[in-house]
Amino acid sequence: MKQDQNSGVTPPTSGASQLLPAEIEHLNKVASHSLLTQFAEVCEGALIVDRQSRIVWMNEKYPKRLGLKDLASVLGQPVESILPNSQMREVVESGRPIMLDIMEFHHAAFVVLRLPLRDATGSVIGAIGLMLLEDAKGLAPLVSRYQAIHRELADTRNKLAEARRAKHTLSSIVGTSEACLLVKAHARRAARTSAPVLIQGETGTGKELLAQAIHNASFRADKPFVAVNIAAIPEALLEAEFFGTTPGAFTGADRRGREGKFELANGGTLFLDEIGDMPSAMQAKLLRVLQEGEYEALGSNKLRSTDTRIVAATSRDLQAEMAQGRFRPDLYYRLNVVTLTMPPLRERMEDLATLCDYLLDTLSQRMRMAPHELDAAALARLRQHHWPGNIRELQNVLERALMMCDTGVLGLDDVASILPAVAVAAPALPEAAAQQPLRLADIISSAERQAISAALKACGGNKAQAATRLGISRTSFYEKLASLQLA
Ligand SMILES: Nc1ncnc2c1ncn2[C@@H]1O[C@H](COP(=O)(O)OP(=O)(O)OP(=O)(O)O)[C@@H](O)[C@H]1O
Ligand SMILES: [Mg+2]
Repeated sequence: MKQDQNSGVTPPTSGASQLLPAEIEHLNKVASHSLLTQFAEVCEGALIVDRQSRIVWMNEKYPKRLGLKDLASVLGQPVESILPNSQMREVVESGRPIMLDIMEFHHAAFVVLRLPLRDATGSVIGAIGLMLLEDAKGLAPLVSRYQAIHRELADTRNKLAEARRAKHTLSSIVGTSEACLLVKAHARRAARTSAPVLIQGETGTGKELLAQAIHNASFRADKPFVAVNIAAIPEALLEAEFFGTTPGAFTGADRRGREGKFELANGGTLFLDEIGDMPSAMQAKLLRVLQEGEYEALGSNKLRSTDTRIVAATSRDLQAEMAQGRFRPDLYYRLNVVTLTMPPLRERMEDLATLCDYLLDTLSQRMRMAPHELDAAALARLRQHHWPGNIRELQNVLERALMMCDTGVLGLDDVASILPAVAVAAPALPEAAAQQPLRLADIISSAERQAISAALKACGGNKAQAATRLGISRTSFYEKLASLQLA
């Protein structure tokens, strides 16, 4: 039996008389026309765009639905000028349909369907978009689920905006040491301008705290404070993270594009944490934004301008990084307009007691415990520690001590058991002694001699206090004095 291979309609295999090719062609035309008109009728809106994504046809309902006066005014217009969220251009450019999607227009959500239109040779010549009936029963669950997700998204965005508000002010930086007061005074001055600020300091010294405080003291306080930890982001994603992506720059979840940190921080402050870890390609791009105040989102060639104050922080020695060729000098000088250095805790020991009070208060509140205090011996033991992790380390030590403590007062044992014995500041050996091989016993007694002399000096010669400060009993203090011939 013969089959017609040229058409989409297959003649019946037996029985009725066979159709002629002309009849088949006619039938196909009628079928596709009627499909289109019926679709257009049940649709709230239907439109066709050409190869350049200009509107060339709309069904009668659509202009009314869009609140347009007449159809003539939209013909020939780029589709996005009438429907800002339209994805028709993507369909024309990719040649791929978007079978079911939700499009927002004037605060309403519509289920839409978009198909490419091809000529006889298969080339894309435009696309047809169909907006399905708003009250179509079958689609109601889909739309309401979408709306629920939307509400959740709006909620999350609000919470995020809340989190983006910088919490700390200059008054939350505890400390009255000279070094601390000086840094606060400089920060207050820096807050009056929009110049970039570079914060240096060891880990845990409060660099992020200071960055938030500067933001809150500036006229940008009611705008976002956005923090980016450069060390935590893979190099390949940094550019998208900073500058954002345009719709279609990536497939999948990012189809609609993503806001970059410069966009999110616009009008406010962008905190670049661990700037010393920024790869050099990104350094060049950041420098451009700092110089021009403009950048391009990934996949776009449109320049966006930004008014963002940059506060950068690093625990690395940027000058050394620069000397090694790992940090661009031009970026360094651009960031270095104002440099603030957070002093390490060991250089502001006069703040230790106040810091402990403050941290114990906040920690016991957070841990839902009764307030705790620190006795003199415990404080003296904390004073001896070298604090390489600075205030964060102090916070951790106090938190662990609180967990172990059964009474309302943290004593020597509570803190001594947590502090590493080796981390007590090791006195430097005299230059000459360091040159020659020494016996361990000699090294230990030399260190003990120095520690005891220093403690006695600090306590004005009071032996009981010096013993407490060193965390040893009075009897063993006297024994040591004798054996080291210091008495
Ligand atoms: N002067 C201070 N008063 C009260 N709390 C402080 C002070 N400085 C730091 N802290 C607290 O210590 C912790 C560490 O501070 P922060 O994260 O700002 O340090 P950092 O220098 O950014 O550290 P890192 O280099 O590790 O990122 C935080 O919990 C912060 O609230
Ligand atoms: Mg930090």
